[in-house]
Amino acid sequence: MGWRRPIKGSLIAFSKAMNVFPDKGLKPAGVGTRGRLFVVFAPVLALLAITVVLAITAWLAGWYRTEMVIAIVGVGASALLVAMLVLYRQVRVRQAATRALSNVEARVSDVVESAMDPIITVDESQRIVLFNDAAERVFRWPRNAVLGQPIDKLLPERYREAHRRHIEKFGETGSTSRRMGSQMVLMALRADGQEFPIEASISQHSEDGRQRFTVILRDITERLGVETALARGEARLRGILDSAMDAIITIDERQHIVLFNAAAESMFGCPRDEALGAPLAWFIPDRFRGVHADHVRAFGATGTASRRMGGLRVVTGLRRNGEEFPIDASISQQSEADGRFYTVILRDITERVRQEDELRRSKEELRELSVALHQAREQEKSRIARELHDELGQALTSLQMDIAWCKQRIPQDGNGFAGKLAKMETMLERTVAATRRIATELRPLMLDDLGLVPAVEWLAESFTQRSGVACELAISHESLDLPGAHATAVFRTVQEALTNVAKHAHASRVDVAIEQADGHVSVSVHDDGVGFSTEGARKPNSFGLLGLRERASLLGGEARISSAPGKGTHVELRLPSGEEPLKS
Ligand SMILES: Nc1ncnc2c1ncn2[C@@H]1O[C@H](COP(=O)(O)OP(=O)(O)OP(=O)(O)O)[C@@H](O)[C@H]1O
Ligand SMILES: [Mg+2]
Repeated sequence: MGWRRPIKGSLIAFSKAMNVFPDKGLKPAGVGTRGRLFVVFAPVLALLAITVVLAITAWLAGWYRTEMVIAIVGVGASALLVAMLVLYRQVRVRQAATRALSNVEARVSDVVESAMDPIITVDESQRIVLFNDAAERVFRWPRNAVLGQPIDKLLPERYREAHRRHIEKFGETGSTSRRMGSQMVLMALRADGQEFPIEASISQHSEDGRQRFTVILRDITERLGVETALARGEARLRGILDSAMDAIITIDERQHIVLFNAAAESMFGCPRDEALGAPLAWFIPDRFRGVHADHVRAFGATGTASRRMGGLRVVTGLRRNGEEFPIDASISQQSEADGRFYTVILRDITERVRQEDELRRSKEELRELSVALHQAREQEKSRIARELHDELGQALTSLQMDIAWCKQRIPQDGNGFAGKLAKMETMLERTVAATRRIATELRPLMLDDLGLVPAVEWLAESFTQRSGVACELAISHESLDLPGAHATAVFRTVQEALTNVAKHAHASRVDVAIEQADGHVSVSVHDDGVGFSTEGARKPNSFGLLGLRERASLLGGEARISSAPGKGTHVELRLPSGEEPLKS
């Protein structure tokens, strides 16, 4: 094969460098061979020498000359035969060694050529003597163009000098192999002038007393590209993590911290360097540590990708200065080659919890204020109603009596005096009626004086009188025993519902039911009017139903309004009364 020729000269050298086979049996013939030949032929030579000595002695002494000549010829012939045999064996051994050598050469050629990595051997003047297939591919040089050329051809100019010195120095060390450029990335040069990063190892050996250096290298352009992209991706991820408003902490299976972002540093008051590798327990108050570790383990066992921590409870964190603070946390898990990792995203909700507390407090205060306002309003109404009834009513009644007294004493022809008095009397009657109506509407005194049932009955009657709509009233007991505020709420609910029927419903009938049972009082006002949609927004300046709901919730109960266009309206109130009805 053509490609074998250029590298053949260096194959033994390369095989030595690679230690492909041991020296024994492949040693080329040289000084040692001569010594071995001598050993092999020594007995023949000794036999010949003894025969010659004996022959000369016999010749000189004149003993059996003819027999001697025959004996010498015989011995010489056998020595020649032995020598020929020995020579024949030597030739066979030699042939076998040459065959073995060429087999090894072929095998090494195959190894070198099928190697994935470029393999280059240079001689002591750093000229290339071996350049394999992979080297051709990577450097894009055909073998013939580089063999015999200085190695510089394959290096960017700025590295050539350093590289030359490096190899020389390596040659002086006497060590057989080492990695090149372990501290930095080495650069090589392709035929088209393109530079590329490589990873290389070098070895040395001597061939016929001359030094050879073999470099095995790898093009790491792709790997470096991946590494760079990975590093860039990591840097980007770190940037994102550090710009996150929430603290992000990743822990390993032992619950030790492996990631701690900038927000976590400021939230827990702990620098990243200290936190990394520390147990997560550092940032959890003592009393929660065990439970927390169990939670994380249990979460790991579920296999769920992520979930909120603590459910509806607020989780508590611990700053390095010992301060505890509420946090909102979610946890996720990732299974990687080196184990399972948990990532916790935390938000300091100190401010939110404070605001929620404040809101709760202010709602509570508003509720108390509302109760007080309702009471004050009812008391005020009650007071005015009583004033109207007692003071004004009394005064008007005595005026009526005075007019009646005057009417009796006035002369018949009193210049139209009687007519005037009659007008005054009518006006007074109307005023008395109006005063009563106003007082009753403000707060029927009968609610306080006679109780809820008569007050509601009066309400229903006056509703029918005013609106002409039939009102059916059903009350479960003759007398209901309710605390004042509850009685007022029931009365006001019926009052508001009936007013609404009169104002909006165009109904023909309304059913009112009041029932007290099981520690509750419930009211139901149901009309067959036009109804309305309860979905839409509340009308501005419409506070009747709103007040009704609020009054119910202040007393721990609820008001429900169900209605739909064309379906009538149903107002329901249910309050815990705590009391049982007096009579049934
Ligand atoms: N029985 C009903 N039939 C039909 N529509 C009703 C009925 N009750 C309430 N509505 C509708 O619901 C709206 C809200 O009622 P709400 O009692 O809250 O306010 P309002 O009666 O309009 O004003 P006010 O504040 O004087 O009570 C009414 O404007 C009306 O459109
Ligand atoms: Mg109303």
